[in-house]
Amino acid sequence: MKAAAAEAGFDPDLVERAARLAPGMASRSLFERLLGGPLRHEEDASFASRLTEERAARLLSAVRSAAGRPGTGESSAAGMSWHSGIEGSGLLVTAHSEPGGTRVSVNFDRGTGLLLTSIATAGGILASFLAAVGVAQETAISPYLVLAPGVAGSLAFARAFWASSTRTVRRRLAFLMETVDRVFEGDRADVEPARSEPLPKANLAEKLSLITEPWTPRLAARVNETDVKLVKLQGAFVWHRHEAEDELFLVLKGRLLMQFRDREEWVEEGELIVVPRGVEHRPVAPEEVHVLLVEPTGTLNTGDVRSERTVEVVEPI
Ligand code: NI
Repeated sequence: MKAAAAEAGFDPDLVERAARLAPGMASRSLFERLLGGPLRHEEDASFASRLTEERAARLLSAVRSAAGRPGTGESSAAGMSWHSGIEGSGLLVTAHSEPGGTRVSVNFDRGTGLLLTSIATAGGILASFLAAVGVAQETAISPYLVLAPGVAGSLAFARAFWASSTRTVRRRLAFLMETVDRVFEGDRADVEPARSEPLPKANLAEKLSLITEPWTPRLAARVNETDVKLVKLQGAFVWHRHEAEDELFLVLKGRLLMQFRDREEWVEEGELIVVPRGVEHRPVAPEEVHVLLVEPTGTLNTGDVRSERTVEVVEPI
């Protein structure tokens, strides 16, 4: 096709891009085009790793925290599924094994949103109608002068609202897919050739001196599917739990207070504590503490909670 396009005097890249876009545009119904956005969003991704029980649990935990809305789900070696909203509508994330790896599908049906938007729009149109009737009864002004802008305004508002919520949905879904990606990220090590040379050594004090922001973990090393992170803590963190990950805290400098719902523990310099998966905890640092964290790749620092402290991407240092 590219050669034919070039021969005809068109930019071949442009033609190819247009050809890719065309089926997507054509498959959108007239109604969706009038509405200003699709009624249903679908995303699919394939990964080269098998869906183990542990990975399915990690995926469920990541989806639960990335979705930013309540939902229910379950995971096992056979697959993972998480659903939010009423049956047959809302957000559905599933993962299952396929030949050569794992397939993750995200399906977002906006039927409920459409229903609410329609009710609001119908309300606007009804109000315009009532206003027009009132005008007709009391004045000589044509009721259409009130009705027409009222109806047009309600429809324009509905379309603008739908288009803006479409952008929000797209952003949320992109974030969700990134999170899913991160769960499988460590797996790339499986396909990478084994290292034949040792990596350069790392000086922890030197690396810590480069960290200025508290509560911002940085990646010091990755070994198998485990991250070794460095972080400075100061003040109280948020209560959270990690559904599928055990977390190891090694205090390099200062003293850390690890709070659990039923007790608390001071972890002194040179000591370590392991927080088991599922256990709610809150690290507190009355004064600055330097910590080395060991946890599976893809572990979110705030676990099942989203806050301004959540660090989506842990940068290497
Ligand atoms: Ni934690």
